[in-house]
Amino acid sequence: MKRVAILISGGGSNMVRLLESMTDDHPARAVLVGSNDPAAAGLAKAEAAGVATFAVDHRAYRGDRPAFESALLEHLDRAEPDILCLAGFMRILTPEFVSRFQDRMLNIHPSLLPKYPGLHTHQRALDAGDAQAGATVHLVTPELDAGPILGQARVPVLPGDDADRLAARVLVQEHRLYPQVLRRFASGDRTPVLIAE
Ligand code: GRF
Repeated sequence: MKRVAILISGGGSNMVRLLESMTDDHPARAVLVGSNDPAAAGLAKAEAAGVATFAVDHRAYRGDRPAFESALLEHLDRAEPDILCLAGFMRILTPEFVSRFQDRMLNIHPSLLPKYPGLHTHQRALDAGDAQAGATVHLVTPELDAGPILGQARVPVLPGDDADRLAARVLVQEHRLYPQVLRRFASGDRTPVLIAE
């Protein structure tokens, strides 16, 4: 049984779907949900689901990233996760932290990587006149949003789309994609999950 920890920064809608997906026949179970924001709404959702939570306020470390990460690790190491899922986690992690979870840290990014690493992905797809957009789950490596792709979900860009409407359409597919990728990854299968809406 693989032990899964999940890091969030906000509402945690992807985290909720991951928790809901880890039913009895699943090769993994959630052992911890953490956040860089004590006020993250997702923390209450995790507690309601009976999962232990923690928060380390990154603002208390004023840019001392290693100090912030060692505080994260105090909580994470105690839970002994086999897999770490970033789900709407909005802090950049140092290569040292990433190397601690080499080949067992996943992230969901709201673009069809390698297109649009970083922020404002939906607006950039619209500005480029792309016909499709979507989300990617990838293994986290020291380079931002650049690790091996474990799954992608594609949606059409529709006339009249703005960033919010496109983001909402992509989020629905994120909620399908991440649980499928986690189940496959936890069973040792790295065949990419490909979803087209
Ligand atoms: C989603 O668009 C996700 O792709 C990005 O953060 C957004 C919010 O995620 N990483 P969640 O609702 O907090 O899971």
